[in-house]
Amino acid sequence: MIKSISEMSAFSAEAKAERRSIGFVPTMGYLHEGHASLLEQSKKQNDFCILSIFVNPLQFGPNEDFDRYPRDFERDEQVARNYGVDAVFYPDVKEMYPSEPSVTMRVNKRVDTLCGRTREGHFDGVATVLTKLFHIISPDRVYFGMKDAQQVAVVQGLISDLNFPVELVPCPTVREEDGLAKSSRNVYLSERERQEAPALYRTLREAAERLLERENITHIKEKMVEYLEKQTSGKVDYFEILSYPELEEAHETDREMIIALAVQFKNARLIDNITINPD
Ligand code: PAJ
Repeated sequence: MIKSISEMSAFSAEAKAERRSIGFVPTMGYLHEGHASLLEQSKKQNDFCILSIFVNPLQFGPNEDFDRYPRDFERDEQVARNYGVDAVFYPDVKEMYPSEPSVTMRVNKRVDTLCGRTREGHFDGVATVLTKLFHIISPDRVYFGMKDAQQVAVVQGLISDLNFPVELVPCPTVREEDGLAKSSRNVYLSERERQEAPALYRTLREAAERLLERENITHIKEKMVEYLEKQTSGKVDYFEILSYPELEEAHETDREMIIALAVQFKNARLIDNITINPD
């Protein structure tokens, strides 16, 4: 486990000096099979695999769950060991942000919809911490889950606009057998909510079928929100069908589209999506 930035950078510098490639998996910990799939992919494509575990305060709003975000470093370290991770970067908040930052990132595109609409500043916080992590670790490839498809779209913009010499590798969403996308926040579902939760993925698949049959988008959205509100006790925060990765209004000519939803349960807000190619 590496806690200091200087030690982390030294590790990377040594790997670079030996001309070894670095795969990097940034996380906030409380690891599950979704995170593990990113580690596996990184292991396959690189000489070294670096995992970061950092619950980044900058990406949580004042009324969000920073304090109660689930944490279990010992278990995470064991998971990292099992997957053959070469270094776990686990900095304290004070190490990453010794004082109020004098510079932070601001994301201008792909954030006025989906989670960006309600989680103000969230993606600015994500872009800021990733900028730091990319500088500290200098990875060749970085691995992100399509579970957070908007994050993938935003980070792709960050990497290309600011010319980070790193390749983003998007990885498919890992699900429970009943279709629920794996998430660190699933532990906050009540038993009843957990039983209702597979309705999210069912709804996405239903919408995808209707979309491929060229049903009207507004009509699909209305029907799916209705379905979700009938099948779960949660409140639908959004249900959108957009172009991907631009996240703009979808048109029949789009090469790729995303169907994305967020449902607020009592103690957990769940998100899920699927991307489809209508051709
Ligand atoms: P976190 O929520 O811990 O997620 C870390 C990575 O795991 C993200 O790329 C996320 O998309 C991926 N992931 C989560 N659940 C997944 C699933 N079911 N299947 C596949 N991949 C999954 O996302 C963050 O942390 C933070 O915003 C971070 C990028 C670390 C910046 O702080």
